[in-house]
Amino acid sequence: MFGRTNSLTRRDAILLLIGATSLHVWNLFFPQYFPSSPPTFDVDAFNAGTRHVVAPKVITQKQTYTETLERTATTTATVVTTIAPAPTSLAISPHDTLPSTEVLAHAPGWTLFRNLYMSNGTLIIVTDENGKSKLPPIRMMASVSLEAVNSPENIAAREPNQYTMDIIDPQEASKRWTSPSEGDSGKVFNRVWTVEGSTFLVWDPVQFLRHYFHFVAELFFGLQAFWHGAWSQPIPHSSNPDSAHFSTSHPSPPPIDRVIFAYSNANGWRDDPGFNRYFLRAAFPSMTVEHEEDWQDRVVITRPTTGSPEKAFHFPLVVVADRSASHRGVICGTQVQRTASEAWDLMRQRGKLMGIHVGGWWAPIREAIWRFAGAEAAWKGLGSRRRQDVHQEAWKFSDDKSGLPGMDEPLPTDKSKIVDIGREHQKHLSMPEKIVISYISRQTARTRRLAEEDHNAMVRAVKQLVSRKNDERRKVIDALENDIAKRPNFESHKVPLEWEFQELIAERMTKDEQIRQAARTTILLGLHGNGLTHLVFMDPNQFSTVIELFYPGGFAHDYYWTSRSLGMTHMAVWNDSHTSFPQKPEIGYPDGFHGWSIPVHGPYIAQVIEDRVSGKL
Ligand SMILES: *[C@@H]1O[C@H](CO)[C@@H](O)[C@H](O)[C@H]1NC(C)=O
Ligand SMILES: *[C@@H]1O[C@H](CO)[C@@H](O)[C@H](O)[C@H]1NC(C)=O
Repeated sequence: MFGRTNSLTRRDAILLLIGATSLHVWNLFFPQYFPSSPPTFDVDAFNAGTRHVVAPKVITQKQTYTETLERTATTTATVVTTIAPAPTSLAISPHDTLPSTEVLAHAPGWTLFRNLYMSNGTLIIVTDENGKSKLPPIRMMASVSLEAVNSPENIAAREPNQYTMDIIDPQEASKRWTSPSEGDSGKVFNRVWTVEGSTFLVWDPVQFLRHYFHFVAELFFGLQAFWHGAWSQPIPHSSNPDSAHFSTSHPSPPPIDRVIFAYSNANGWRDDPGFNRYFLRAAFPSMTVEHEEDWQDRVVITRPTTGSPEKAFHFPLVVVADRSASHRGVICGTQVQRTASEAWDLMRQRGKLMGIHVGGWWAPIREAIWRFAGAEAAWKGLGSRRRQDVHQEAWKFSDDKSGLPGMDEPLPTDKSKIVDIGREHQKHLSMPEKIVISYISRQTARTRRLAEEDHNAMVRAVKQLVSRKNDERRKVIDALENDIAKRPNFESHKVPLEWEFQELIAERMTKDEQIRQAARTTILLGLHGNGLTHLVFMDPNQFSTVIELFYPGGFAHDYYWTSRSLGMTHMAVWNDSHTSFPQKPEIGYPDGFHGWSIPVHGPYIAQVIEDRVSGKL
């Protein structure tokens, strides 16, 4: 009721103020009146995506104790304190025994812990021998956070050591961080401070954080796959287009309260064009951001000194992301070099990647960014087209505190029972309203440009294609209008879609404009480069395609993996040939890859686009 403040009249507000104030004062005098039991999660509200802790029954109390008014001497701040939701109950209180650490979900470089500790900068797992035997190897969870270069010395130096992550047993934890209480209550008194709520702990150095692609389409893309997947109930594999795997409507996971960039200062994750901050603040408006300096505060004050008792911080729920550890995984390390792929594939294999064929697990973020940018996609067609009501009952987020749903069951041995993405699924997606071709030009960039005459010829060829398609459409419409005039009972006819071409020069557009254009794009065309990151804000449909131009013989996985992971088609073009999944070229950066005279045969691009939309490709 307090959330809807706009429904309060002025008089109500004043009453409330008086009441809450008196409550506070009453509480000061008679603190024992209000039970001090910790507030509990309201599970339904939790599932609905908003953390909401049931507020104390302030109204009732207020009415009862307004007579204490004469004792008040307080400010509005008191009112806020009284009616605001209380913090969550996940904190360890001074007499609690220390809960053991559990790994709730793990993929190389992505680990969700319950009850992780930190002292002097070391992440500490508290567990007994039995728990220890179930842990993933430390090197798959954390590394020494150093800039990565591909040399044996650097690879060795990034291997975790005793100060990166450590495992201790509960007796040791108790010896380090607790003392017996006075008297013979048998209780302990601990020196552990909880960092409440959920935390995303980014263990990576600055090296890759400062790039729009790596920050958005790797770090937070992987986090979303991992976090959204972790809390979701698995859905069995089905090719039925009514399956929830084709829906973007799923409950939100619990919020992530803070991100800690443990090895980056405030400048370290902000890219020059400013897309990272745009993304972070729009997608996670409530998330607190901490940096290296903040982390160091926690490190330094828990550094043991002789003569002082040891202390630790406690993280009730934390995802630790570590780039180097992801690269030790098979998929990231040997197949696609995308850290997000490890998180994504773990959840895919377990059937927990909601709406996998349309990037449903990513939709909450995509839609938040659309709304922020004012993109039409944010409010258009979110109803019927997305099969909103289908299978709502089939799954929900886990409210089970004992573990995450579907994480421990063995995977089906029959691969055909495991959900995967592919063109056959994309065929079931909705039709676009219009074929919008967006060409992200790099002709003003410092590196990687098309040969100028090839760029011009390609733009000409695609424009010709678009106007030919629109002429064809015009003819069909004219003929129909003619026919309808002559024969009113004319049967329903298929009017071809309208086409549109846009050449985009990012520097000349606002961020909002860029996102709005991405959201309405069917075919994203451009040279390999950061601008293609916008593909994560496309709205996947039957024809959604990313056409990535490379210097002949060159290839990188960035946009290839990312397009596919959202259920879209990716085509890699080398001048006048292309390849697309399941063919995958070898990674290559031949001379000329970053040059200013990358060739492309314009008419070939126009043909590829036409064939893709006609279904030939
Ligand atoms: C604290 O951690 C550092 C490594 O970061 C280590 O060199 C030092 O010995 C540790 N201090 C204690 C008292 O353990
Ligand atoms: C690109 O393709 C066109 C058309 O096949 C061809 O004429 C041209 O020589 C090719 N350019 C390069 C650099 O391979």
